[in-house]
Amino acid sequence: MGRISFEELISLSPSTRFVHGGQEPDKAFGAVVPPIYLSSTFHQPELGKNLGYEYSRTANPTRDALEEQLALAEKGRFGFAFASGSAATNTVLNLLESGDHVVAGDDLYGGTYRLFERAWRKLGLSFTYVDPSDPERVRAALTEKTRLVWLETPTNPLLGICDIRAICELLPEGVLVAVDNTFASPYLQNPLELGAHVVVHSTTKYIGGHSDLVGGAIVVKDPELAERIHFFQNAVGAVPSPFDCYLASRGLKTLALRMERHSRNAQAVAEFLAGHPMVERVYYPGLPTHPGHRVAKAQMKHGFSGMVSFSLRSEEAARRLLRELRIFLLAESLGGVESLVCHPATMTHASYPRKEREARGITDRLLRLSVGIEDPEDLIADLSQALEKAAG
Ligand SMILES: Cc1ncc(COP(=O)(O)O)c(C=O)c1O
Repeated sequence: MGRISFEELISLSPSTRFVHGGQEPDKAFGAVVPPIYLSSTFHQPELGKNLGYEYSRTANPTRDALEEQLALAEKGRFGFAFASGSAATNTVLNLLESGDHVVAGDDLYGGTYRLFERAWRKLGLSFTYVDPSDPERVRAALTEKTRLVWLETPTNPLLGICDIRAICELLPEGVLVAVDNTFASPYLQNPLELGAHVVVHSTTKYIGGHSDLVGGAIVVKDPELAERIHFFQNAVGAVPSPFDCYLASRGLKTLALRMERHSRNAQAVAEFLAGHPMVERVYYPGLPTHPGHRVAKAQMKHGFSGMVSFSLRSEEAARRLLRELRIFLLAESLGGVESLVCHPATMTHASYPRKEREARGITDRLLRLSVGIEDPEDLIADLSQALEKAAG
């Protein structure tokens, strides 16, 4: 019968795709885990001939295995691995020409906003930021020069939700829709199935899953788009090492299990916080009171992910809480097995000018949790004791 093919795998359930995507047994010894090919270069038996690989910036067998696994994870055709999520984002912008216009969501990872404003604006791209929770606002921001709509859903850090399908349906031909799917992960949401052309991930987060690598990914369906992305992946050269490709691949195999647990834990934490008198507001799409709950429920599967933000009544209370937490670690990043807490205004979103940050709701009272896979009762107990002390 032979090994299951890409075409057969793509119709199977996510857990099966994550485990088997790109995992061809090694040709030399049958190793079940594809080997880590550290070699930067490959012997060419004679001039003009090679055995499939020449130079690892262009292609490497370990990266190829991960890229196929990523393509299957997102139900696309072509996966590309990068040295970071930011390098993946940058590569999508490489597809544009000077003078082009981008419509972007107004709540984005701070580094994405910084890349747009500080690297690309001066090279002739222009950006308009809108709240995409109403698709009509995206349509209203389009100009004749718009070539890209850039979305996050759920957003970082305010967990806003937009309707990917509704936005894609109202855009004219020639406008690419790229979705940064980092917060949802390919287990909970597949934007290509909802009409998006490009999916971007920071694999540093849920795909890697263990806070031990920095990486990024792009997945597309269209061969012509894939060719252009491959050109920039090779020409710019922001590619991950074979060892990091192996770590991302290993992480992706357990994504389904982890996302179930992250989502369950986050739901319990969000419900606990929503009932606590010291908490001013909770941002979590799994709460029925969240304005995007209905859309999130329809476009996400299996849960609402592990990210929860909340605001306290004062900045001082937020700072005190950070000092008192004993299991949640104060750190940047997210999506690992361990629970983290961050203060977006001074950490992940410090690159937004203060005025813009506050206008978007990223105040000094806001905290963001990456809820890990620990026992939910232990996590709630940690928050409870820290809130009590912060009140005192
Ligand atoms: C939603 C989102 N997109 C992209 C990135 C950038 O990824 P990286 O840090 O791997 O460059 C991050 C990083 O925090 C993120 O949260």
